[in-house]
Amino acid sequence: MKIELISHSPSETVRIGEKIGKLLKKGSILGLTGNLGAGKTTMIQGIARGLGVDKKQYVRSPSFTLAHQYKGKLPVYHLDLYRLNTKEINSLGYEEYVFGDGVCIIEWIEKMGKVPMEEWLHINLKFLKKEEHRKITVNAKGKYEKLIKELAKIVKPSRPTCQLLAKASRRKC
Ligand SMILES: Nc1ncnc2c1ncn2[C@@H]1O[C@H](COP(=O)(O)OP(=O)(O)OP(=O)(O)O)[C@@H](O)[C@H]1O
Ligand SMILES: [Mg+2]
Repeated sequence: MKIELISHSPSETVRIGEKIGKLLKKGSILGLTGNLGAGKTTMIQGIARGLGVDKKQYVRSPSFTLAHQYKGKLPVYHLDLYRLNTKEINSLGYEEYVFGDGVCIIEWIEKMGKVPMEEWLHINLKFLKKEEHRKITVNAKGKYEKLIKELAKIVKPSRPTCQLLAKASRRKC
């Protein structure tokens, strides 16, 4: 199950992230994909805010370490795999973050090759023609499908998703 949203600005992406963050639970695993500068870290700033991470804990990509950790209502682990190859990732010990006691958010999750976790929430950001516009696709399998249903109630999905939801639940677009 997936939901497609259009963001028109960085702050809108943060707001969408915040809504997603509020729906996350202990043990949630999120993987973000999208080209350089698409807005993955911007989205994670919102997710962290939704998880109760205050603004003083500045959310930025971990450049020289594997992970940043933030304190919210749950521990938030932020991994960025951009500079690593699959072999390096496998020898780094990401498991303590992924199977830890908080929420684990992974930028460039595709660098893992075949993702070793069974269930995770996939967020993809794509550039659209207008400079500040992005298509955000949130894709869920298994236990994360409930989150998509909750999210659909509090955001405005783009037309194709809205039509899908309308079919399933007599919702108006
Ligand atoms: N709608 C939007 N959503 C998110 N970011 C946007 C949007 N419009 C413009 N931007 C700008 O695009 C840039 C996104 O940068 P960000 O670091 O979040 O991307 P990223 O996907 O994490 O990049 P990288 O792959 O280098 O880690 C920021 O400068 C942000 O202000
Ligand atoms: Mg980034």
